[in-house]
Amino acid sequence: MNSAPPSAREAPHTQPVRVWDLPTRLFHWLLLGLVVALIITGQLGGGWMEWHARCGYGVFTLLLFRLVWGVVGGHHSRFVHFLPSAARLRAALSQVWRGPHVTAVGHNPMGALSVLALLLVLGLQVASGLVSDDEIAFSGPLSARVSTDWASLATWYHKVVGKRLLIALVVLHVLAIVYHRFRFGERLVTAMVKGDQSMSREQAVQTPSSRDGLRERVHALAWLLVCAGVVRAVVQWGGGT
Ligand code: HEM
Ligand code: HEM
Repeated sequence: MNSAPPSAREAPHTQPVRVWDLPTRLFHWLLLGLVVALIITGQLGGGWMEWHARCGYGVFTLLLFRLVWGVVGGHHSRFVHFLPSAARLRAALSQVWRGPHVTAVGHNPMGALSVLALLLVLGLQVASGLVSDDEIAFSGPLSARVSTDWASLATWYHKVVGKRLLIALVVLHVLAIVYHRFRFGERLVTAMVKGDQSMSREQAVQTPSSRDGLRERVHALAWLLVCAGVVRAVVQWGGGT
């Protein structure tokens, strides 16, 4: 349970609850940095493709980590606690039309869908990148393991479909956050930076907080290293370094 006293800057009737543990927050901001670097290096091409691949392996590692953390991580990061059921989605949609707006703890049902779409499209982008071939100077480490037809299809998806889909989802993601800030006054970015979401005391009492101590952080680091090891093994299996 959350026993932290309200900070000096909290309104007297609100209380902070830890929703995003440090591993989830680091996952998010590292992912953002790597995706920006991937889009820039992908567009620059040439000698930047070595960095493109390294950043791509970084995203691959983060995605594997997030899958594991979605099972063993903090309460609000676990898939079972935010994957929306059909009933919750219907309720969320009818709330959009009829109101009143209820601030969700962690991802709201629609937000959860956009998170899943982002993770899926990122996964496809990494998978297609691994087997892509620019037919000039650079190819993904697994491109020699698939037929040239599959490599061409993957390269087309990676350059034409996946890139645009990802950029569109990220733009929607940011617009949704800005909308929640100005329409409902919800400070989602603050929560993704500091980890805490502010809520009424009554709601805080009923809300489980995400465990975020040293033990959980060491646990997360150990899983991250395992995920990096898996990515390294996949790349080496393809003959990359
Ligand atoms: C390349 C760009 C980005 C990607 C790929 C991305 C991806 C994601 C993902 C996967 C999540 C789910 C986190 C989790 O449960 O593990 C998330 C949540 C979130 N992101 Fe981003 N993000 C990006 C950019 C941004 C930017 C620029 C902002 C700030 C304006 C932002 C703010 C947030 C916030 C506040 C949440 C939590 C949403 C909620 O409360 O439901 N993201 N993002
Ligand atoms: C989320 C991860 C990734 C993103 C967002 C991404 C993004 C991009 C972008 C924007 C381009 C330029 C497309 C264009 O020319 O318009 C590109 C090209 C390319 N990427 Fe990625 N990439 C990712 C992961 C990877 C990975 C893991 C690899 C493999 C090591 C890879 C290999 C390639 C190759 C070979 C090209 C050149 C394709 C060509 O010009 O024919 N990418 N990528």
